[in-house]
Amino acid sequence: MLPFSAPKKQSLLIQHESMDSKALQERQKQHMAKGLPKQKPITGVKQVIVVASGKGGVGKSTTAVNLALGLMINNPSKSVGLLDADVYGPSIPKLMNLKGNPELSDNNLMIPLTNYGIPCMSMGFLVDDVAPIVWRGLMVMSAIEKLLRQVDWGSLDYLVVDMPPGTGDVQLSISQNIPVAGAVIVSTPQDIALLDARRGAEMFKKVHVPVLGLVQNMSVFQCPNCNHQTHIFGSDGARQLADTLGVQFLGDVPLHLNIREMSDRGKPVVVSSPDSPEAEAYRKVASAVVRRLEEVNT
Ligand SMILES: Nc1ncnc2c1ncn2[C@@H]1O[C@H](COP(=O)(O)OP(=O)(O)OP(=O)(O)O)[C@@H](O)[C@H]1O
Ligand SMILES: [Mg+2]
Repeated sequence: MLPFSAPKKQSLLIQHESMDSKALQERQKQHMAKGLPKQKPITGVKQVIVVASGKGGVGKSTTAVNLALGLMINNPSKSVGLLDADVYGPSIPKLMNLKGNPELSDNNLMIPLTNYGIPCMSMGFLVDDVAPIVWRGLMVMSAIEKLLRQVDWGSLDYLVVDMPPGTGDVQLSISQNIPVAGAVIVSTPQDIALLDARRGAEMFKKVHVPVLGLVQNMSVFQCPNCNHQTHIFGSDGARQLADTLGVQFLGDVPLHLNIREMSDRGKPVVVSSPDSPEAEAYRKVASAVVRRLEEVNT
């Protein structure tokens, strides 16, 4: 009997175990669903575009600002807002030449500050601009939550979000809390930045945010005196990475003194030098972004 009863016992045991593991899996699923933040749209905002990069200092904020303005200038019937999600190093107040504390609406929401027709919200409006922001993770998360949920944007076609560098908590938290229509990855063509851009793009793919494409920034230096062009980081890195990652190439933005100088003065080139090739480069990126949004939404 033993040789027969043993397998029977074993199969019962397996059955029992598999039932147990099924129940366990089900319970785990329910638990996970409860634990994960529910995606909730930002009131009044149709499409959220995040501007990100794996690496710092590659030109995300400059791109985000000029992209927002480019979207509006290409199609003035569209309303565009700008959210600075870089809570440690907010750049939008300086780049958009804005200062001050947001007023509160009747329902206690912060009213964005507006310049060049773009309503903006930034942690820089809420904290002293010279005090270092020394926060633990939880405080950062609650600041992000505030910026996402306690702002009265009115009605916006696009909200452009300037992300902090990297692929950390803030990026994940934003991707999981609100529906993001697409991510724009900014990279310089330098190898190390490209590796980080790849990480950035892969992160968004993992959290099911469509990657709209890659912007290659500072790939070519145009001398303001003789107009000679020098490919400082190599000419085609981001284009090749876009191919490798299977994401679209959204455009090239030259390294130009005018972009840096105007940014520092709070006068983005798209509005301060609208006829320059630099401004045209950003407007082209904005058109490519709109085309990609239409593609990924159909
Ligand atoms: N195409 C460009 N030509 C000239 N200067 C540029 C260009 N793009 C960005 N810059 C300059 O490079 C510096 C860094 O740009 P920016 O602040 O936009 O980068 P970032 O990626 O947002 O940085 P961080 O990771 O610190 O947020 C700024 O001084 C900016 O003016
Ligand atoms: Mg920045």
